[in-house]
Amino acid sequence: MKNVVLIGFMGTGKTSVGKILAGKLGFAFADIDKKIEEEYSMTIADMFINKGESYFRSVEQQMVKRLAARKNTVIATGGGAVANAENMKALRENGLIVCLKANVDSIKARTEGNDNRPLLMALTDEERTKKIEELLATRAEFYEQADYTVDTSELSPMQVADDIARFCLKNKNRRKTNSNENS
Ligand code: S3P
Repeated sequence: MKNVVLIGFMGTGKTSVGKILAGKLGFAFADIDKKIEEEYSMTIADMFINKGESYFRSVEQQMVKRLAARKNTVIATGGGAVANAENMKALRENGLIVCLKANVDSIKARTEGNDNRPLLMALTDEERTKKIEELLATRAEFYEQADYTVDTSELSPMQVADDIARFCLKNKNRRKTNSNENS
């Protein structure tokens, strides 16, 4: 079976779902941001602040390329990795692309008080809402490229992982589906 690549906005559950999903499928789990942090001995927030976003994006692209070449792996991407066409090409080559989405309220609640999300740091509540809405709007076209999409707003990570595992095991075709069309 192909890798399973989790894409989607910050706070949609890619890391927590990915770990559970990997266990269910008997796959390894790789989180692109975590690998970057380990390799560069720096948090993503520090990398943004000290080196700038474009530096982070080039490091992210190199890491995507490396991890995309693995086999039998659930790969969790950072929320912005999809905006780079080369990233998507590499990930799709050997992977089924699954998008996790969530409504703005869930995203806000799940990213609240988190100091390792540089794009949402140091903002008022109102500014955070605006920033999330803006980023969601500019990234919608990329998230829509997924083979399968699950809305995680009302689901636990276990429920989401179950849903994706069923999809992976039952669907050999790579057609575009939403979870509510697949049940
Ligand atoms: C980003 C999302 C983050 C991380 C970085 C940039 C984004 O990952 O890669 O802060 O551009 O949306 P998560 O989606 O895992 O929070």
